[in-house]
Parts: sequence; C-alpha cells; structure tokens
Amino acid sequence: MDIENVKALQEKLSSLIGVSGFEDDVAKFILNLIKEEQLADRAWIDQLGNVLAVVNGEKNEERILFDAHIDEIGFMISHIDREGFLRFVPIGGWDTRILLGQPVIIRSESGNVFNGIIGSKPPHLTTASERKKLVEIKDMYIDIGMFSKEEVEREGIKMGATGTLSSPFLDFPNNMVRGKAFDDRTGCNVMIQIMRMLKEKPVNDTIMFNFAVQEEIGGRGAITGAFTLKPTIAIAIENTTAGDVPGIKDQEIPAFIGRGPAITIADISVISSPKVNERLTKNAKLAKVPYQMKKPLYGGTDAGKIHISREGVPSTVVSVPCRYIHSPTSLLKLDDIMNTVKLLIAFIINSAEV
Ligand code: CO
Repeated sequence: MDIENVKALQEKLSSLIGVSGFEDDVAKFILNLIKEEQLADRAWIDQLGNVLAVVNGEKNEERILFDAHIDEIGFMISHIDREGFLRFVPIGGWDTRILLGQPVIIRSESGNVFNGIIGSKPPHLTTASERKKLVEIKDMYIDIGMFSKEEVEREGIKMGATGTLSSPFLDFPNNMVRGKAFDDRTGCNVMIQIMRMLKEKPVNDTIMFNFAVQEEIGGRGAITGAFTLKPTIAIAIENTTAGDVPGIKDQEIPAFIGRGPAITIADISVISSPKVNERLTKNAKLAKVPYQMKKPLYGGTDAGKIHISREGVPSTVVSVPCRYIHSPTSLLKLDDIMNTVKLLIAFIINSAEV
C-alpha cells in the first residue's frame, strides 16, 4: 500500500455515480477489480446489489465481516417541465442550504452523464424578504440546457432518473484531497486495500466483505449482506464528520482530521461491543497506529443493522474523519485512510487475547 495508489483508487471510486438503489456502476467496478486482482476466494453480487466477498481462513474460528457502503446521497427526477426543466426529490440527507447554484450530474437510462445546474429565481427577480428565506427543494429545478420535455426524454432522462452534485477530485496541501461521495467510497477503498494486503498474508479467521447498497436510506444492504455471510464479529468502515473547524466547541467535535481512524463507542444506531473495541485499541497500541475515540452519539451506520442480525453480532464502527461530509466538497487526509487500513490489518492478525 502506498499513498499514490490509495489516492488513485479514492479518485476512481468517488467519481462513479451510485445514488442509493442505483449502485450498479460502482458494484460492477468493484467486482471486476476483485476478480482481476484475485482478491477473494469468492465474490459475487447478491439479489439486492451488494458486492459480497469471502477470503477463506486457515482455521475459520471467527468470521469477521467488514462492511462499507457503496451508495451515495443524491436526488431523483420527479417531474419534467414542458420547457425542459427538471424537478427533483432528495435521496438521503442533504443540507438543502448548499444545493442552490450547484453543478450536478445526471445519469440517463443508457448510462450517459449529463451536466446540470440547480437553479431557482435569480436575485434580480426576488424581493429582499424572499432572499432571506431558505429556498425549499420544491422551488428549485435543474437546468440541463434543453428546451422541451420531448428533448429531455429523447436523451433518456425520464422520471426516476438519478443524479448527484458534481465536483472534481482535487489535491490539497498536507496529503489532503477533496471530492464527492467520500462517504463512503472511502470505506470501499479501505476494504480493497485490506484485501490486497491479505493476499500476501494467509490468516486464521475467515474475512468477509460487504460493499453494501442503500445505507443512506436505512442500512438496507447491510441487513441482507450480514444475513447471508453470518459473521461472528463485524466492523462497519465509514467516513465520519470531522468537526475540527471554526465555530464548533471542543465538546462537540466528534473527530479530528489527521488523528487516525475514529473508533465508535456509540452512535444513534449501535452501542459498540466493548470487546471488539478493546481488540482494536490493543492492536492500535501494539502496531503503533494513531487512533481516536469518536464522541457519542452522532449519526447512524450499517453496524446498527449488522449487530442485530440473526442471533446478534458483536460490532463496532471505524471511520476515516472527513470535513464537509454530505456535501460535494468533502475533504480528508490520505494518511487517515492508510492508518485505518493498518489498524484493521493488525486487528485481523491478532485476536489480542494475549
Ligand atoms: Co456513510
């Protein structure tokens, strides 16, 4: 694992469009990569669209599941005006304040990508009091440069088409990168790096992966993936809010950029297993990997679904901290991704009972 390779995969994974429920492009890319590089003993796409993969252990004592979601928040076209403007509904948790004026990308039926802009009434045509009000999504539209409903539909953009905000992947100083969909293509990147490292390291336990669909609308892929794979231990790998920016009090900052993977004690969907967390922190110290404990009780994750799968699965969440999460301009530090991989490899190798 080197930083250039981690960055290249981050760019590739985050540039794909995979709004919840429409993750095919991402799933196909990941399955192909696993097959090409022979990263698993078995890998397949399940009925719901998850990419599942299994690396057999020598002893198969534990069945460790890693889960990262492949979907991203976006929007769905709900109506096409006669003049060719698109109306939309959000899919997943957008901060509506950031939507106006944003460039977007929309996927047509045949997979072509169209550019658009989220517009509303221009300032010249609004009153001072109107400009003080938050514009609701129902009053916004997407302009894709077409002039009639017929033209839009001829290009394969119909009611139900999906898209998301568009944002180029860019380099920042200090190994920071910015882009779209880091939540949670970052977790997918971590899982692929783990699989690459396991290729050279046979392990005792069976290691399983769910590149899960539909997390942003309620952890739906995590439910079916965990049911199929029957884990005895599980870790959801996420991208979490780094609140280390102006205007946020110390006691309210869930995690910090650059301080390594953030381990969840509790979020709104799961109370993490103390045993699994202890195995993580012991290994972090042994392997000299920096880590931080994430403040309770922010967000929900796939671990919320996995830990109550079947008869119950001791679970936790390990996250790469990221600023401006759920915006098209997320910012993270590549070192945090690499330290997350290192921590989880140490976790796999050492049960930390000694
Ligand atoms: Co997420």
